[in-house]
Amino acid sequence: PNVLICDNAEAASLRAAKLFAASLHSWPDLKIGLATGGTPVEMYAQLVRFYEQDLISFAEAKTFNLDEYVGLAADHPQSYRSFMEQQLFSHVNLDPRNAFLPNGMATDVDAEISRYEQLITDSGGIDLQLLGIGHNGHIAFNEPGSAPDSRTRLVDLTERTIASNARFFDSIDDVPKQAITMGIGTILEAKAIVLLALGSDKADAVRLAIEGEVSASHPASFLQTHANVTYVLDEAAAKGLS
Ligand code: F6R
Repeated sequence: PNVLICDNAEAASLRAAKLFAASLHSWPDLKIGLATGGTPVEMYAQLVRFYEQDLISFAEAKTFNLDEYVGLAADHPQSYRSFMEQQLFSHVNLDPRNAFLPNGMATDVDAEISRYEQLITDSGGIDLQLLGIGHNGHIAFNEPGSAPDSRTRLVDLTERTIASNARFFDSIDDVPKQAITMGIGTILEAKAIVLLALGSDKADAVRLAIEGEVSASHPASFLQTHANVTYVLDEAAAKGLS
């Protein structure tokens, strides 16, 4: 795989942003897969700067987020839709009709899941997918045990993921217990993937993803079966690699 190790989190975020900006520059109608969480915040800020400097345009792009909590309205401050609005969408010229996330308030979840997969298929598929990585090796909300051919679906979040996400809510009881997530199979259909990981607490997860055995016990290890994955790491996240 391509493993890019940068001096610090800021440099890694800039490096990842440049990968997205370069693709968007070459292919203005890029279909971009997006992630939420702490990891991409600085990368999105960089993309906003590139947009403000007229280096990139989102006018013809489409974005598809990996996941969304179930039971939070789109305008709930902790919904992933709100996160994307705050970090990226409201600052760039992406057409709101071209910014897709699963609808966590859908009354018919099965229909919503089919709709989301179909939207991705109808767009021609995701060209460049951004991923973060969970401490337990999850990608999107594909927790350990997720099958490599899993598709977009409703999932229960693990205790550890709920606890980790509690920092964004008033209390742990407010953290949603379920999400709609792209599956591993869905993610592996992206033409190219960038996994961004920052900080020493991700070092073990990164090592197992890149150097561990390919196994559902560490879902990110399935990325080893994809032909075009670039890992962008800061030194702390890379420190477990041999
Ligand atoms: C978010 C997502 C998650 C995160 C992962 C890491 O859309 O799919 O898999 O990428 O939980 O989260 P942070 O970046 O907060 O450490």
